[in-house]
Amino acid sequence: MAFDSYLKLAASLAVASFGGLACLVLYRVFFHPLSKIPGPKLAAISRLYDFYYDCVLGGKFVFKIEELHKQYGPIVRIGPNEVHIHDPDFFDEFYTVTSRLDKDAWYYAFVGSKDAGFGTANVDLHRARRKAMSRFFAASAISNLESSSREKVSQLCLRLRSMREAGKPVNLSNAFRCLAADSVTNYCMPKAFNLLDSIDFADDYNRQARVISHIAAWHRHIPIIIPIFMRMPRWAVAATSTEGAVMAFDFQTDLARQAADAVHAEKRSDRSVLDGIISSDAIPESDKSVDRITQEARTLVGAGSETTGNTLETITFHVLANPDKLDRLKEELAQVVETSKGSSDPLSNYSTLQHLPYLTAVINEGLRIACSVSGRLARVNHRQAYTYGTYLLPPGTVISMNIRSNHTFEPVYPEPLTYNPERWLVEGEELKRLEKYFVPFGRGGRSCIGKELALMNLYLTIAAFFHHFDAELFETTRKNIEIEHDYFSPFPAVDSKGLRVMLK
Ligand code: HEM
Repeated sequence: MAFDSYLKLAASLAVASFGGLACLVLYRVFFHPLSKIPGPKLAAISRLYDFYYDCVLGGKFVFKIEELHKQYGPIVRIGPNEVHIHDPDFFDEFYTVTSRLDKDAWYYAFVGSKDAGFGTANVDLHRARRKAMSRFFAASAISNLESSSREKVSQLCLRLRSMREAGKPVNLSNAFRCLAADSVTNYCMPKAFNLLDSIDFADDYNRQARVISHIAAWHRHIPIIIPIFMRMPRWAVAATSTEGAVMAFDFQTDLARQAADAVHAEKRSDRSVLDGIISSDAIPESDKSVDRITQEARTLVGAGSETTGNTLETITFHVLANPDKLDRLKEELAQVVETSKGSSDPLSNYSTLQHLPYLTAVINEGLRIACSVSGRLARVNHRQAYTYGTYLLPPGTVISMNIRSNHTFEPVYPEPLTYNPERWLVEGEELKRLEKYFVPFGRGGRSCIGKELALMNLYLTIAAFFHHFDAELFETTRKNIEIEHDYFSPFPAVDSKGLRVMLK
């Protein structure tokens, strides 16, 4: 073919592509079923809008969405096929078990585990996969959960005691994340990570969590990023990354090895959650492949570590920053010890702690203000349309809401950004009202499976820490622990050194 024929072909292709693109833009803005929903036209046209805020600026879309709600009202079109609703009363109505919602596969691609319980989009497939592990997290498993959690909290206290002697600031943000990761792996995996014994509470590893989470946000838009990262040889990671990234890489490899060992074990058992999934009748044999079990292992660790660590850090910061609340909490804990003389360690008994009113208030307020899942909970119903106000949202529309909208709902939580455990010291209808909008673990069929383990870790750790240690904040302000970037979990400013304290 002659050169000008190539040129003509290229020009025709360019005109056709441009024409196609123009038609798509016109369709999305004027003729799409969501075209009447208010919102910025750029968001209606393309997901590049989301890309700019979450990838280029780094986890900022969540704040932009809040601004958009102020400008456009409770429903905003935030993507070509996605709306975001800011209406705490609608949360309960929407996220119910009976509404049979799928997760939005595009949004949840960031976990890189589309076949794990957490990442499974389809509601029916998810139900079976969740069932395969739910007995490990049910009320009947409390005593197993408790002994696992206790073991890790004691290990943390032992470590903190030895650090107290050194008279140097201790980074509790790291310490709590190590506790959380060790606790999840201790309970869910055949072999725990044992980060609590690492020299500096795995400082660089914990810092990498932010980098990895930012990369995961890019994966939504460029879905080859996670597979490339996972297939990198160890030497390439070591040559291009920090010590923490290599540690993260080694842990991922270790989880894959543990999954393979569990799948190929001669005898099936319920020794750990991972083994239990493989021995469960709820899922077919095809769901027991090494690859899928590895995905379960990775998401359990991912879902349980940053969330619990962030909540512990938030509670501890606010209690230490408010001496009156600190005194009140210490007094309540001391009283328990005083009245339970004879019992070896009453503060490691979950059922005792759960009934302490001030401790419970301190934890609830921490869960409320921490919003440890900061990302939007994107769902799709392929079978049913929804009506919101005067708008019809056809089947297949992605509908998202955010836990933060509920937790900062001013009519229910006055001065919502103030840490005020006292607001929880009410009863009857008043308490019911607070609880209605309180959704730290989500609601419905996709709510947190690890809620009991998380609560147990929060109760046991906060009680032990505040009873056994006197601590002072060290060069830490609220800015060091508060959300600046949303990568589904909240992360503070890049230069934050986290929560540091001097132990006395
Ligand atoms: C304070 C700590 C925690 C908080 C605030 C929290 C919060 C949440 C929330 C809001 C969800 C729903 C996410 C969504 O809709 O996409 C969720 C799901 C989940 N969480 Fe947690 N979580 C915590 C700790 C844990 C722990 C310790 C585990 C470990 C086992 C865990 C495992 C999971 C799993 C596997 C899911 C997916 C459930 C499903 O889709 O069936 N979480 N969590």
